[in-house]
Amino acid sequence: MKAVAVFPSSKQVKIIDHPEPSISSATDVKLRMIDVGVCGTDKEIVSFQYGTPPQGSEYLVIGHESLGEVVQTGPGVKTLKKGDLVVMMVRRPCDHPQCVACRVGRQDFCYTGDFTERGIKGRHGFMTEYVVDDEKYMNLVPGNLRDVAVLVEPLTIAQKAIEQLWQVQARLPWACPAEAGKPAQFCHNAVVLGAGPVGLLGAMALGVQGFKTYVYSRTPPPNPRADLCSAIGAQYISSDETSVDEMARKVGRIDLVYEAVGASSLAFDVMRVLGTNGVFIFTGVPGRKAPIEVDTDLLMRDFVLKNQVIYGTVNAGKQAFLEAISDLEEYRRRWPDAVKRLITGRFRIDQAIDLLTGRVGGIKNVVSLQ
Ligand code: BGC
Ligand code: ZN
Repeated sequence: MKAVAVFPSSKQVKIIDHPEPSISSATDVKLRMIDVGVCGTDKEIVSFQYGTPPQGSEYLVIGHESLGEVVQTGPGVKTLKKGDLVVMMVRRPCDHPQCVACRVGRQDFCYTGDFTERGIKGRHGFMTEYVVDDEKYMNLVPGNLRDVAVLVEPLTIAQKAIEQLWQVQARLPWACPAEAGKPAQFCHNAVVLGAGPVGLLGAMALGVQGFKTYVYSRTPPPNPRADLCSAIGAQYISSDETSVDEMARKVGRIDLVYEAVGASSLAFDVMRVLGTNGVFIFTGVPGRKAPIEVDTDLLMRDFVLKNQVIYGTVNAGKQAFLEAISDLEEYRRRWPDAVKRLITGRFRIDQAIDLLTGRVGGIKNVVSLQ
């Protein structure tokens, strides 16, 4: 079957003929792939900055944002049947008995670093025709989400980040004041850095959680990303037109910054304007550029004197996948076509290499295999 593969040692990206996998354990499920999303991680892998083939293989089949359809189930499979739509989890546990995270299925918090990730690190991915894996890594998706379900995996980043946010803010009085008999009013401001898929999905997730949400991104409006923000009730602010300090004056107290660009200079600049009791979440992985100057005394003073918290978050557990699936349905209800507009291009597998290596514009591009 066809697959898109990177060969790190010879620095090549090719469409190859890859052996079709088959069911080998009772709880295995075989999928025919429908959609595979392309993200920044994939582009890094095809430029050979990231990504590791499975042991003994000279290539890695890429792709980790998936949607597939069940075509066959092993005799022990209980949760899925032929025709079901599923989104796959990406990370697989390490095998160290002392890794308490992996041992309880939270490999997104793996301690040892010896986890694997399908399409990224040590395991083939999903940009191919058929995929086999254990049912426990598969998440059932309702049929009405078929056209957008490939967004579930990038949305899990926001879901995991927000799960932790509630835990962190349980440290202080954080509930918004409510008048008796009336629904609680929004009282927290969130600033999302970046209007890529992770940023825009994060803005949707934060909107649904009740945040007044601002998206701070480079390009001045009007542009499709800014339009999408208005469609979901978020306010778009261009960093070309509005300095960080002006942005902070516009927003008021910044309770949360959700970083979704992977640009450290912008991030550390915005950190200066994080509000009292605020939280700063990193989700982007920056490339290695030259060191920059940062006023560390100012930042450290504020972290102490304003009770601030900063954390990074990667990958996601089962719960985040389930939440992402039900959240996508909710976004659909609230903003009928906004979710769909995140997917700006669909390509055939033989166009995948241009898509991965070229400069194809748009928000989220998808390789459609059917
Ligand atoms: C994926 C995550 C993965 C991370 C690091 C991201 O693009 O969405 O699932 O853990 O890359 O490899
Ligand atoms: Zn582990």
